[in-house]
Amino acid sequence: MAEKRSKRLKMADDFVAQYVTDVKTIYRPSYHVTPPIGWMNDPNGFSFYKDEYHLFYQFHPYYPKWGPMHWAHIRSKDLVSWEWLPIALAPDEDYDKDGCFSGAAIVDGDRHVLIYTGHVHPDPADREAVVQQQCMAYSEDGIHYEKLPNNPVITGDMLPEGSSREDFRDPSFIERAGCRYVLVANRGKDGCGRILVYRSDDLNAWEYCGVLCESGGSVGEMWECPDAFELDGEDVLLVSPMFLKQDGTEFSNMHSSVYRVGKMDFEKPAFTGGSYREIDHGLDFYAPQVLCAPDGRRIMIGWMQMWDRTYPTEEMKHGWACTMTIPRELSLRDGRLIQRPIRELELYRKNHVFYSDVALNGDISLPGVEGTSIDLVLQVTLRDAQMFSVRLFCADDEYAEVSWSGQDGRITFSRENIHTSVTGKEAHSVESRSFQTDLQSTLDLRILLDRSTVEIFACSGRYASSNTVFPVKRGSGIRFSADGLAVIDTLDKWEITDEAAVRPVGGV
Ligand code: FRU
Repeated sequence: MAEKRSKRLKMADDFVAQYVTDVKTIYRPSYHVTPPIGWMNDPNGFSFYKDEYHLFYQFHPYYPKWGPMHWAHIRSKDLVSWEWLPIALAPDEDYDKDGCFSGAAIVDGDRHVLIYTGHVHPDPADREAVVQQQCMAYSEDGIHYEKLPNNPVITGDMLPEGSSREDFRDPSFIERAGCRYVLVANRGKDGCGRILVYRSDDLNAWEYCGVLCESGGSVGEMWECPDAFELDGEDVLLVSPMFLKQDGTEFSNMHSSVYRVGKMDFEKPAFTGGSYREIDHGLDFYAPQVLCAPDGRRIMIGWMQMWDRTYPTEEMKHGWACTMTIPRELSLRDGRLIQRPIRELELYRKNHVFYSDVALNGDISLPGVEGTSIDLVLQVTLRDAQMFSVRLFCADDEYAEVSWSGQDGRITFSRENIHTSVTGKEAHSVESRSFQTDLQSTLDLRILLDRSTVEIFACSGRYASSNTVFPVKRGSGIRFSADGLAVIDTLDKWEITDEAAVRPVGGV
């Protein structure tokens, strides 16, 4: 078994090393995590072990499209600059032969312990034949991971009656009062999503405790990628419901990621709390995970993409696809999740440009305010203008746009004027998305651009919107406009040095 496992891992590592230089990098972000080659989806095992942050992700090295899932592995001292490590898991056992699906990591003494879903799909035409079970692996050096001999550790037989065995995935660890729990997403009798809780004393033998909470049909269909953690004295639950019904400007992507603030009771088990709110209002955000940093910060990273879309770098044969968000520090304000780019990013800023009190009425650009891998922070006040907008990646008639209507407080991100189009299975266009804010006269905005990404943080992190763009002309211009008098009270812009991002393959 061990030999077989190392063969699949070695094959994947060798493939990456051999073909990584064939990848076209013009759209590859410079300070966001991207795969060196091939396809990436959910973040996995986001954790801090032996003085370093570790991030794994769903990875298909051989082609920039989803396929049999491996776990890629990178590590970092500051969550910005990452080092590529050997692939941690490959689908090489009978119980995970069609994929090592999403999961989590925990530190147990000296060991780094992973839990993931072993996915087996014997007949592609028969979805009901799928078997998903939870499996574990561990490492003592944070580089080489050994699967447990008694995998799978949480099997289909440990499901309550009437549960789907084909939708039973994405385990996530929680530690409470010295006990270890695992949350697993599952489809119940009603066909909808819910979260099951398992408990273990030795991180080996698991027992079923009950259902933590469920969709009941009102929060989408199958749930994916649950995570839960304490934040500012509350419990926060994250989950990614599939096919959550659109409600005004909320949940307008095919699948959504939501959070709920409340209290988690492991005895019952039960999660009681407020409503499920969307985490990020962009076009591209899914399956986030949270870690607890040594200084107590809760830091979230998500997949900056959406299922069932076209993926331009795959279509253009660039050899890679998909990006992670910038890691974000979380806090709660008035029961809402606040997201701010991790402060470590500020260490990578250079070439500061500053403006204050810039009045505009119409369209302007400001010398020095341009770039494609930048951090842009501005505060704007509308005088008699109703609308203010920032155009990004401008070149001739191509641009992406962030606009704010003071009239109704809506912020809209649009990639309609980017010449590479993206389509999805949504009934509406996925070229723009609006979200509601309560900002009517003053707006504070932080925009992170990184070659093919636009992340927007408004109102000190109360609203976040993550998006991808693939500008054909790759323009670096930035233009501001207002339909009346508006004032840019302050503007700070930095480039982000390209020392950031993932160090090339071969570092180990
Ligand atoms: C979510 C997801 C997970 C699954 C993984 C497979 O994006 O569908 O439920 O474990 O991706 O790659």
